[in-house]
Amino acid sequence: MVITVTLNPAMDKTITVQDFELGKVNRVSKVRYDIGGKGINVSKVLKRFEIPSACTGFIGGGWKDTFEKELRNMGIDNYFVEVKEDTRTNIKVVDDKNKIYTDINEPGPRITEKELNDFTNKFKDICNENDVVVLSGGVCPNIPKNIYGTLTKIAKERGAFVILDAEGELLSEGIKEKPDIIKPNKHEFELLLNKKLDSEDDIVYEAKKLINNGLKKVLISLGEKGAILVSNEMVLYGEGLKVPVKSTVGAGDSMVAALIYSMINNFDNEETIKFAVATGAASVSLEGTQACDLNQVKSLIEKVNINVRR
Ligand SMILES: Nc1ncnc2c1ncn2[C@@H]1O[C@H](COP(=O)(O)OP(=O)(O)OP(=O)(O)O)[C@@H](O)[C@H]1O
Ligand SMILES: [Mg+2]
Repeated sequence: MVITVTLNPAMDKTITVQDFELGKVNRVSKVRYDIGGKGINVSKVLKRFEIPSACTGFIGGGWKDTFEKELRNMGIDNYFVEVKEDTRTNIKVVDDKNKIYTDINEPGPRITEKELNDFTNKFKDICNENDVVVLSGGVCPNIPKNIYGTLTKIAKERGAFVILDAEGELLSEGIKEKPDIIKPNKHEFELLLNKKLDSEDDIVYEAKKLINNGLKKVLISLGEKGAILVSNEMVLYGEGLKVPVKSTVGAGDSMVAALIYSMINNFDNEETIKFAVATGAASVSLEGTQACDLNQVKSLIEKVNINVRR
């Protein structure tokens, strides 16, 4: 089974306001709600790839029923732990006229010690041998920063495979327990190492150090420039594809789903980087956090140029 963890999900409320003006009364022309959070986004893309997955994390308050209903409608299994405080609402203001996009994000609920324990126990229960676990995104403010390390340790003890996609302390603490794959973007990778990486060689050098330390693969995404996949056997650079960009939100989450698809289908490294870069490109060519489907990705795969270095 694939298990995606979303510790601070959000109801994404997108409101369209033509000519948005600060400090004025603005009229909304369109409202849209999408259940979100990085792990959930990975599950949505997996669903489009016909790979079943289960979501877990914290859910609470008025949005609980909506999340459960939406997940059910999407055919995604739901193992969320209920919490007392409300799951957050993140507002995205879309000003189509001036092409200005504003995000207003809430911090998320306070999680009690008991709720955190309940979650950890549930996670222990649902993790099994050969599962793929995705630990992804930010967390509620009072969650310990080593949470992904704790969860990585539990998952690995149970024989599951772990993909970590997080930033800052969540990533630096998390990698201490050696997840199998990490997928930072360049900025997150620089933050992790606390230095600027000016060339491809610098990126590869640092990624190899992590591999020597026990990680199996490091996939560094470079936005429109593509991505670099570093493993024990080889280094592969997949050049970014030129596509009409509608929204770059969720490109990284799609790439994580692509990694899982590649693992499940026993792709080699070359097939994996091509599939991952094609999936990222398919994702940015769709509006908002819409998930791309397999046909869109397949039409792009052969266009991805790769450079191999052993
Ligand atoms: N403008 C773009 N044009 C073409 N492909 C893109 C573009 N932006 C992203 N991609 C593809 O998507 C992949 C992931 O994008 P990116 O590096 O922006 O991830 P991220 O910063 O982790 O995103 P997220 O906000 O989802 O966390 C890239 O490696 C690339 O293949
Ligand atoms: Mg990302």
